[in-house]
Amino acid sequence: MIITSQAKTESLSEAFDKLSLRESLNSNLESILEIVKNRYSDIGRISVAMYDEHNDSLKSYLSSAGINEPLSHLEISLDNFQEIHCLKKTSSSRIIRDFESEPENAIANKLIKEGYLSSYIVPIFDNKKFLGIISFSSFNKSRFAHYRTRAQIDLAAKLVAFLTINELYAIQGLQGTAKTLKDVAALRDNETGEHLERMSRYSRHIARHLAQSHGLDDEFIEDLYLCAPLHDIGKIAIPDKILLKPGALTDDEFSEMQKHTIYGKEIIDKALINLQIAGKPFSKLLSNIVFFHHENWDGTGYPSKLVGKDIPLEARIIRVADVYDALTSERPYKKAWSQSEALDYLQVESGKLFDSHCVDAAAACAGVFKKIKAEFSDKPYE
Ligand code: C2E
Ligand code: SIN
Ligand code: SIN
Ligand code: FE
Ligand code: FE
Repeated sequence: MIITSQAKTESLSEAFDKLSLRESLNSNLESILEIVKNRYSDIGRISVAMYDEHNDSLKSYLSSAGINEPLSHLEISLDNFQEIHCLKKTSSSRIIRDFESEPENAIANKLIKEGYLSSYIVPIFDNKKFLGIISFSSFNKSRFAHYRTRAQIDLAAKLVAFLTINELYAIQGLQGTAKTLKDVAALRDNETGEHLERMSRYSRHIARHLAQSHGLDDEFIEDLYLCAPLHDIGKIAIPDKILLKPGALTDDEFSEMQKHTIYGKEIIDKALINLQIAGKPFSKLLSNIVFFHHENWDGTGYPSKLVGKDIPLEARIIRVADVYDALTSERPYKKAWSQSEALDYLQVESGKLFDSHCVDAAAACAGVFKKIKAEFSDKPYE
């Protein structure tokens, strides 16, 4: 008996030791699950889903179950999720323990398949702003019935909420800094906020499509989505006469333009240190996006002429999303192409400029891309 409890204490302290702001949020979630399991061994899963106010939906984000998470890569409208809708309104937690009584509910079905019989869902609020939910799932139908149990689990939820908010605001802080820098530079860039909205959403869909084959978890996908708007941050260091030139660039001008990847990395590295978020889970991904988003699959890109899989996947995805959006948008130096012209171009350059997997994913997402373009655009396709 004593040995068991000592072993328990040791594994508990080990789990606490593993918590770190430098680890990925998913691995922190695993450690928190170990802590929770120490007391309630039938709790098998902790997940976090983030709220997107733009379309009133929840997107899966983190999971202690990693690649085996039953509810990964989901985006669910709150219209189809009454419990969460309610929880958002009342800002109180909820127990869901009647999975089996809802044979129509796809979410419940996926959880039952893994043996879960009940969930306890805690909202994440910052001030009055609803940010998402944390969900604890148990193999035991009445695990969360007692308020004292819930009080214990609420402590773990606080920790999860803290880690999530901390990460989210670090990224948003960077986005804010980027926006301020642009404002100070009198928004010289012709790339509108809508370009950034669109291309980050395209990136997310491409990544979702690659998730299964490339083993991508939702933390990667969400970080990619959040960091994507910063890919061209280095353009703020490019002189107006080049950046805003209405016609084609000369060779010299284009080589100066290409340095936006290098300037971008310098800016991001400084910002990461100044905002004290260097070493955060997303910082490598961000720096890869900024530095490598113009590398070509065949090694003809810039700045490093990396080839194939040596180019980080996040940069290969951004490359395709960025070019697709650049082509389908009007620029001072070019007209907007139609969607099929842009997709044809990606196909022609597939395996040359672009990772063919990313091109195929973009092609598969044509329908969603069209919707995104219509939603975040003053000009629909011609
Ligand atoms: P951007 O406008 O965001 O374009 C991103 C990438 O989309 C380009 O990277 C290129 O790969 C692709 N792209 C954009 N427009 C076209 C096009 O009309 N045809 C084709 N085939 N591809 C296109 P790239 O070439 O490395 O350019 C980087 C940035 O340099 C561009 O970002 C833009 O800001 C600037 N730029 C490139 N060409 C010109 C130009 O002729 N005139 C001016 N003023 N700026 C240019
Ligand atoms: C979720 O995990 O996304 C909420 C659904 C549940 O666990 O019941
Ligand atoms: C995908 O992202 O997997 C394809 C497009 C979609 O999200 O429906
Ligand atoms: Fe760029
Ligand atoms: Fe761009």
